[in-house]
Amino acid sequence: SESKPWAGRFTEATDAFVEAFTASVDFDKRLAPHDIQGSIAHAAMLKRIGVLSEEECEIIRHGLEQIRAEIERGEFAWSIKLEDVHMNIEARLTERIGEAGKKLHTGRSRNDQVATDVRLYLRHEIDRIGGEILRLRQALLDLAEREADTIMPGFTHLQVAQPVTFGHHLLAWNEMLARDHERLLDCRKRVNVMPLGAAALAGTTFPLDRFYTAELLGFDRPAPNSLDAVSDRDFAIEFTACAGLMMMHLSRFSEELILWTSAQFGFIELPDAFCTGSSIMPQKKNPDVPELVRGKSGRVFGHLMSLLTLMKSQPLAYNKDNQEDKEPLFDTVDTVKNCLRAFADMMPHVRPNRDGMYASASKGYATATDLADYLVRKGVPFRDAHEIVGKAVRLGIETGRDLSGLSLTELQQLSATIGPDVFDILTLEGSVRARNHFGGTAPEQVRAAVKQARQGLEEM
Ligand code: ARG
Repeated sequence: SESKPWAGRFTEATDAFVEAFTASVDFDKRLAPHDIQGSIAHAAMLKRIGVLSEEECEIIRHGLEQIRAEIERGEFAWSIKLEDVHMNIEARLTERIGEAGKKLHTGRSRNDQVATDVRLYLRHEIDRIGGEILRLRQALLDLAEREADTIMPGFTHLQVAQPVTFGHHLLAWNEMLARDHERLLDCRKRVNVMPLGAAALAGTTFPLDRFYTAELLGFDRPAPNSLDAVSDRDFAIEFTACAGLMMMHLSRFSEELILWTSAQFGFIELPDAFCTGSSIMPQKKNPDVPELVRGKSGRVFGHLMSLLTLMKSQPLAYNKDNQEDKEPLFDTVDTVKNCLRAFADMMPHVRPNRDGMYASASKGYATATDLADYLVRKGVPFRDAHEIVGKAVRLGIETGRDLSGLSLTELQQLSATIGPDVFDILTLEGSVRARNHFGGTAPEQVRAAVKQARQGLEEM
């Protein structure tokens, strides 16, 4: 039956346009498995407190399982006349099982039902997103370990600054993702609270055992205030903020991959399977995947703004505005999950061009700071050392040579303290090896950091 469960007090039929305008089923049907899970738990609780008989509860459970199967098979007939996922499923339940189906909604409102469904959905998706983060981090750690000795230029202002190891650079991304994951798990604590029992807004006259339902659904606890439970969507906003930060990180990550694949950098090659060609330029191999990820960060930032604005100024308790939480939230989930998946799949196949990175690090006077530090160790004050090395760099620029290409005599004309041992520190290898402390770029530190990060992953 497609008659509205709330039709009792109405004398006129709903305007056809309004029906379509207010319906959410086209998108909230995604919540169906969680709606069914919530209803089964609610029914079990109603049985426990004596509102449903054992038999009624069983008939409801079985009916809902069959509806779940119908939906999975794609046979469920969704109807916008029944507005949303909740009323579609409930109407179908009563159609299938009769009287018992009409008792399911006892002590419940769509307001606490939808808030519960969204929380169950989001908890599930947070766990899947966490899995993708772990996969990507694994790939980064594997690559970092293999490239612990690989030398590349480190940049500030996108100008060559000091040599770093490629492994160290990869581990920087790992740190960002580790924080993203931590944030997500912290957010999960606030997602995992159960609105059911709040009913429309004030609670219910039935002696519901909310702690029991919460336990059945794996929630940490029932929400302590019924008005708050049905109305706030801060948990969804918080998730979207976490997702926004993650996308911000992925966009930086993307930007570097894109730069690095260009002929001008030539640091890495992306797998063909993750690139596309050009319909006109035969030579092209474009880094579409990182470009898309970089671009998709925009929609997630936008969703965060949508959700904040949606919630802003809403009076207590539930308002229909909240129906608008779903599309931004769902798209945020899809976007971060897909972007993480693409990166996790791609990273193991990224091929570093070690010679290219090395050659690039050799240009741009990347060891100038090492020379200054060397002079300081010989007793020259740092500011004087800075000046002396500046002159050495100028000589190099004027004569088209790197610092290690200057002769000892030339260097000694700039500072008599310089000895033949200077050439050890002017090499790229010497430079990275010397930064051998916790958090530094030395290969030894990279290997230690990988080991520690792996331990951290196992403990997650
Ligand atoms: N489809 C609605 C939503 O997503 C469900 C709750 C409707 N409640 C109500 N009182 N109209 O928010």
